[in-house]
Amino acid sequence: MAAALMRFMPSLSPRSLSFGSRAVSLSATKVLPETVKIVEVGPRDGLQNEKAIVPVETKICLIDMLSEAGLPVIEATSFVSPKWVPQMADQEEVMRGIHRKPGVNYPVLTPNLKGYRAARVAGATEVAIFGAASELFSKKNINCSVEESLQRFEEVMEAAKQEGIPVRGYVSCVLGCPYEGKVSPAKVAEVAKRLYSMGCYEISLGDTIGVGTPGGMAEMLEAVKKEVPVQALAVHCHDTYGQALANILVALQNGVNVVDSSVAGLGGCPYAQGASGNVATEDVVYMLHGLGIHTGVDLPKLMDAGLYICRSLNRRTNSKVAQATCKL
Ligand code: HMG
Ligand code: MG
Repeated sequence: MAAALMRFMPSLSPRSLSFGSRAVSLSATKVLPETVKIVEVGPRDGLQNEKAIVPVETKICLIDMLSEAGLPVIEATSFVSPKWVPQMADQEEVMRGIHRKPGVNYPVLTPNLKGYRAARVAGATEVAIFGAASELFSKKNINCSVEESLQRFEEVMEAAKQEGIPVRGYVSCVLGCPYEGKVSPAKVAEVAKRLYSMGCYEISLGDTIGVGTPGGMAEMLEAVKKEVPVQALAVHCHDTYGQALANILVALQNGVNVVDSSVAGLGGCPYAQGASGNVATEDVVYMLHGLGIHTGVDLPKLMDAGLYICRSLNRRTNSKVAQATCKL
């Protein structure tokens, strides 16, 4: 979440936010996937919140360490307005500096055609468009309505199709919005369907402020799966209320096999009291490997990347696994 937009966010407190609850049956016997693709979003979603500008060399080194750790997808940066998100203003240097490991994808965020064009000039070979299931969030985040955003995305999609560039789609606020509170699963399904229909190969469902619980995740997925094949779905959980791993497990039980996460649980925002970053990649990998699910990620190397970025930022890791094993 961009610091610029988060300035407008109200404090997150259990009293001020009510996202509803629903009793669900979570059968432990549901089949889990054999492999899960992890989409590492730390260099983008994690670092975009940092107040002090992180040196471009540090970002490049982090991304290269993550690819060495076996992450198959690393969201490298975003081509958004530097006035809105100053931390991502070095996007071209990042794209030029990284060592592109064969077989690894390095998608970047592109909110509009301008961003798409700049991303392509900088050598991006995959992009992501990012919409929301909440009108107010869309306005605060990308300064337009949901409908307007979808029109902008159509333009990006058209250009990407002509150039054979894969496009990933995000839907934010799928389990709650900081401005509107509860978000209906039907609205999430509608936006996800629009993005999928226009040609996104994968739709990442974002619990942007980490308020969701497993029942809400199950209910939301039930609605979305009626519109988008589950093979094309990913979950993107922020861990503000400590629910991310539980929510991910429910998503896996529902057939989702793509999970977004952020090394060291990078992220968080000084403007939303208590809000934290994405679920830590180390913790997701630990859980998945414990379940016998293949990820292709080398956990010790991943932890080295987490250690590196935490030392660079002079902060404690948010990964429970790293805390338990590295004493950071
Ligand atoms: P705008 O001000 O409405 O755009 O911003 P505009 O078209 O009116 O243009 C205004 C200025 O921005 C102009 O420059 C444009 O050239 C420039 P000026 O003439 O004033 O010097 N501009 C751009 N510059 C660079 N790159 C561009 C671009 N487009 C216009 N692509 C805009 C619209 C979308 C650009 C703006 O609102 C923005 O940059 N917002 C930031 C959005 C963002 O990065 N949010 C955080 C990522 S989303 C997220 O974290 C959620 C996610 O993780 C999933 C989840 O957790 O739910 C993905
Ligand atoms: Mg996010």
